[in-house]
Amino acid sequence: TYVVTEGCIACKYTDCVEVCPVDCFYAGENMLVIHPDECIDCGVCEPECPVDAILPDTAPGVAPWLTLNAELAEVWPNIRERIAPLPDHEAWAGQQGKLASLSR
Ligand code: SF4
Ligand code: F3S
Repeated sequence: TYVVTEGCIACKYTDCVEVCPVDCFYAGENMLVIHPDECIDCGVCEPECPVDAILPDTAPGVAPWLTLNAELAEVWPNIRERIAPLPDHEAWAGQQGKLASLSR
């Protein structure tokens, strides 16, 4: 499966949802996640994210993010269409330690 990681938090560009063939993205207030049981591992979303927030679950350090994606995909609503990024996306892009700012 592919996994949405820290880079998405407070940016939420949503370019990724446009290309997913199985519509397995779920949206919180300031992050998206991928449902690991629905993702077919096609990889087309990975290059679409402007901040490289989407990674395969085999990438280093992704394990805790996979757990988070699995948990939140069960509670957040499905998103199938692109929407505007969050207002402060430019200021947040590339910042570290954004997990503390995640809205659940
Ligand atoms: Fe969707 Fe493919 Fe990305 Fe999985 S890897 S979330 S199926 S676009
Ligand atoms: Fe997030 Fe990147 Fe998609 S910022 S919403 S994973 S395009």
